[in-house]
Amino acid sequence: MISERVKQVAPSQTLELNKKVAEGLAAGRNIIGLNSGEPDFNTPAPIIEAAHRAMLDGKTKYTEARGMLALREAIVTKLKDDNKIAYSSDDIIVTTGAKFALFTGLLALCNPGDEVIVPKPCWVSYVEMIRLADAVPVTVPVHSDWSLDTDAIEGAITAKTRVIIINSPNNPTGAVYGEDAMRRVADIADRHDLFLISDEVYEKLNYGDKPHVSPAAFSDDIKKRTLTVNGFSKAYAMTGWRVGYAAGPRDVIRSMSTIQSHATSNVASFSQWASIEALRSCDAHVEYMKKTFEERRDYAHGRLQRLPGVQCSLPEGAFYLFPNISGLFGKSDNGCVIEDSPAFAEYLLDTADVALVPGNAFESPEGIRLSYAVSMETLIDAMDRIEASVYRLK
Ligand SMILES: Cc1ncc(COP(=O)(O)O)c(C=O)c1O
Repeated sequence: MISERVKQVAPSQTLELNKKVAEGLAAGRNIIGLNSGEPDFNTPAPIIEAAHRAMLDGKTKYTEARGMLALREAIVTKLKDDNKIAYSSDDIIVTTGAKFALFTGLLALCNPGDEVIVPKPCWVSYVEMIRLADAVPVTVPVHSDWSLDTDAIEGAITAKTRVIIINSPNNPTGAVYGEDAMRRVADIADRHDLFLISDEVYEKLNYGDKPHVSPAAFSDDIKKRTLTVNGFSKAYAMTGWRVGYAAGPRDVIRSMSTIQSHATSNVASFSQWASIEALRSCDAHVEYMKKTFEERRDYAHGRLQRLPGVQCSLPEGAFYLFPNISGLFGKSDNGCVIEDSPAFAEYLLDTADVALVPGNAFESPEGIRLSYAVSMETLIDAMDRIEASVYRLK
């Protein structure tokens, strides 16, 4: 009875793993989950207070499907101040997380059979969303240092290519793409008349010396063919509030609003009021979380780098490390052979009670993703356990 559309889509592998970890925890195991894609911090208090106030004030009704004007205006100001892009409130849609901005964006832009290019390693959901939109994912490897291979992107273009998705800072690699690479991608999109979706949800978690680049800021021509996607989940520790947004050409935004109006109506009204407060008053909270993430990144990276068979470049953004673990393939402990990344993830879950996400989930089977969105104390414990298990492999 299940449609062909859904049958071709795999359930989110990270969510599957979360389930396995939850079952282990329920059974009393002391599992450390480094598999999750969300900040461990509580949502900053002013945001929670703003939601509470909104509810008490009766702001609990439907809003415009595309999002409240007050929030869209706050987003316009954010995009002008932070990203140097001039949008009006009619160019913005507030969505159920950045996820729904990406999905409705793909639905609005792609006809059946259109191809969407995604540099890999890439976030799990792009490929499945593209398939759900009846389009065809075309994943293209980045360089081994995780920088964009723009020649490979251009080489993958066919008559059916419609969209390129770029994600910087990147999940899972943590790579931040610099201005040169971004300009080259924008130029490719322009020359081949393609649309660009720029997923910038980790914008605020950028630790290196490369400033964040929003391609829509390059020129009016690029802006006309770019959907800038962002959200509140990662920067403001608001994953459960489900607020994201997109800015782009008005006809695309209008089409996305039409889809959203029939699919989910609007983002919860009080989440929208809370998001205005996030943009208005929470820069210091974001700065604190960023600094804390950076300390953890440095610690975990140092520990990983010293492990035999593991290679890990220093990520410049987001809150993930994505080491190459192919040096462990073929090794074994007590009859358990590490054949691939899922086998290593299972080995760690069984022997160290630590959960990581196998690279296969990111179209990159030689890697494994470790999220450092946990306390330093937990991270130290996790690294001790991982180290002990890796040293047992012969
Ligand atoms: C690269 C990337 N884009 C988008 C999202 C979606 O975020 P949300 O829907 O919570 O705003 C995620 C979440 O993990 C992500 O990693």
